[in-house]
Amino acid sequence: MKGLILSGGAGTRLRPITHTSAKQLVPIANRPILFYGLDDMAAAGVTDIGIIISPLTGDEIREAVGDGSEFGVDVTWIVQDEPSGLAHCVQIARPFLGDDDFVMYLGDNMLEQGLVEFVDRFEAARRDALAPQLGEKSSKAPSAQILLARVDDPSSFGVADVDADGNVVALVEKPANPPSDLALVGIYLFDSSIHEAVAGIEPSARGELEITDAIQALLSSGHRVEHEVLTGWWIDTGKKDPLLECNRLVLDSLDRKIEGDLDASSVADGRVIIEEGATLINSTVRGPAVIGAGTVIEDSHIGPYSSIAIDCHILRSEVDNTVVLRRSTVTDIPRLTDSLVGRDTAVSRGGAMPRATRLMIGDHCHVEIE
Ligand code: G1P
Repeated sequence: MKGLILSGGAGTRLRPITHTSAKQLVPIANRPILFYGLDDMAAAGVTDIGIIISPLTGDEIREAVGDGSEFGVDVTWIVQDEPSGLAHCVQIARPFLGDDDFVMYLGDNMLEQGLVEFVDRFEAARRDALAPQLGEKSSKAPSAQILLARVDDPSSFGVADVDADGNVVALVEKPANPPSDLALVGIYLFDSSIHEAVAGIEPSARGELEITDAIQALLSSGHRVEHEVLTGWWIDTGKKDPLLECNRLVLDSLDRKIEGDLDASSVADGRVIIEEGATLINSTVRGPAVIGAGTVIEDSHIGPYSSIAIDCHILRSEVDNTVVLRRSTVTDIPRLTDSLVGRDTAVSRGGAMPRATRLMIGDHCHVEIE
């Protein structure tokens, strides 16, 4: 089985962060989102992986992932020139995929349960169908397996219609009147029949070749499409609040590790990771939280669910439920909460008169003053 990770998306809903960086590299607990997907693939024994990138952010992603050896995988880079849809990604990956089965993973999705059981189930169903045990009737091998999750707002996802017997009977992309609350999670398993299905679909209203339509085409032509309903959490991290939620969920799963320096008046309380080379001066970090290498926390309180990346400086401030990207500073802010702070950014309280809010911010920002 091969892997296909889609990391070409522009991440418009995470602007301004994504004006200068790929959304798949935004860190969750100080690790790029994409790395969790690579880990999941490797854990499921999928080591031959194609990664779709765009001309805009591809170089940054290539540099971060390298040749894949850090994850125990081999990476083939595939450039998608235009954002023409998820099914278009399958089309341009055909030379890499050949006729192999593959798992497709959207690079900004994260899920609790990993891929191991999901992949095992598909492989077992196909094995049993293709070589039935003695006395068993041969059944039709599944051509695809999808993962579904119950959501509150199905109209912003692909949605499955499941009949009384539990079979998926139809799939529709972002429907105005959703047939159910079962959204398609961005993780799919396919055999080579998906290529014919992709070849037969037309662009959707948003001008993209939708993978949802290709799976519908499989159903319409009588292929077996298996599904599983997720029980653990799943997050499409493409917006700020889901990203912060994902950060909380991942921080909750980490173990305490103190490798940086704490002075005598500093405390790291609970499940806290202080990376090597990080320094706490007269400060408290209350977990779950992670403080990156080279970061200095001074006269400050870092509250639960904060991820402070490398080479930051937090001075005389209180921060909680916040993700701060590398080389940023927070100075004299009594309470910074529910925030995503980009790279090389300064957030401070100035003493200059007249007392006022002074801003130098980029495009597509959102600033909420207390
Ligand atoms: C895509 C798919 C959609 C799926 C979603 C999962 O949506 O088109 O069917 O439910 O990913 O994250 P998009 O992110 O392109 O809006």
